[in-house]
Amino acid sequence: MSLFNVYPLNPIAITKAAGSRVWDDKGQEYLDMYGGHAVISIGHTHPHWVKRIEDQLHAIAFYSNSVIMPIQDELAKALNDISGKKDFQLFLCNSGAEANENALKLASFHTGRKKIVAFKKSFHGRTSLAVAATDNPSIVAPVNETNNIIFLPLNDIEALETCFASNGSEIAAVIIEGIQGVAGIHEASDAFLQAIRKVCDAHGAIYIADSVQCGYGRSGQFFAHDHAGVNADIYSMAKGMGNGFPIGGILIAPHIQAKFGMLGTTFGGNPLACAAALAVIEVMQKDNLIKAAQEKGAYLINALKNTEGVKAVRGRGLMIGFEMEIGLEDVRKVLLNDLKIFTGEAKPNVVRLLPALTISMEEINLFLTGLNKAIQLQLLKQKKD
Ligand SMILES: Cc1ncc(COP(=O)(O)O)c(C=O)c1O
Repeated sequence: MSLFNVYPLNPIAITKAAGSRVWDDKGQEYLDMYGGHAVISIGHTHPHWVKRIEDQLHAIAFYSNSVIMPIQDELAKALNDISGKKDFQLFLCNSGAEANENALKLASFHTGRKKIVAFKKSFHGRTSLAVAATDNPSIVAPVNETNNIIFLPLNDIEALETCFASNGSEIAAVIIEGIQGVAGIHEASDAFLQAIRKVCDAHGAIYIADSVQCGYGRSGQFFAHDHAGVNADIYSMAKGMGNGFPIGGILIAPHIQAKFGMLGTTFGGNPLACAAALAVIEVMQKDNLIKAAQEKGAYLINALKNTEGVKAVRGRGLMIGFEMEIGLEDVRKVLLNDLKIFTGEAKPNVVRLLPALTISMEEINLFLTGLNKAIQLQLLKQKKD
């Protein structure tokens, strides 16, 4: 049997990892500035995370959501503390798409409405509503096409207000990434997020903060949306939440009421996933990783802005995107193949950095040295050609 061929693969088999380093099956070491697509928050195979999961495995790995699971309450309390979202409620699931799917569905249940406002270039996942609210027709199957999504330009307050002025009574929710990831690292402005809060309040709609990629401390605040100083009604979370153990969830404002059967899942909130998520929060708190993301990110962004050949540096904390000057577009390939450094990308020409929040200053400097070398190699090649 072959694998269903949907991923364009790097011809590298990663078989071992620790912190911000990974190794291939031939023993070659790589620096991981990609964090397995923003998933690795406290570093690969962090010892506390491994032990927490191992201990849980010996106690109980799974039971259904038909019984009390104290570890879910423990996680809710830890999330309350670290996020500062007092009295919010927690619903657990298994992935980012599922988190957004549940958030959108809940907004519709709560308001009794059908329309969703989303933004140009957004990515919210691949389940049916999440993908419909994703601005990429090539991944929307005919069955997922719907007239219920209104796409507006990002950071255009006038367009947002005009849309609500004419459709306000039909809109269930506005869903927005604090920093668009797949689109190539584009921040929602503070003023725009404040305007969303305002129109949602005025029209009884739900503000959904998609924090799947930009959340969990990566931006230097627990949720990237927090930089704007206003609360959302629902926060969706996944990637960094389990440091690679699959888990997702939504934080739900106290005014949204649960009803039996409204949402549900078999695997969501299983004890193993909760143990992994608790380990992540414990390490984040003990090592002050949100502040670390802020400080290391500021250093990295500043260094990139002063690197010859690099342009359009964007992002916050350790969620960074930059473009290369014309002729240097192959720098990502050189970084990987010649200098053994993993980075992420966004089409057409953005290099994305999403390292673990535990990355050291030495490793950041190693990356910067590597980037400079890659640029020099590219320039040399240009001269020869
Ligand atoms: C902002 C955002 N939302 C949702 C998702 C979907 O998450 P998942 O792949 O876990 O379903 C992603 C994944 O990249 C994302 O970046």
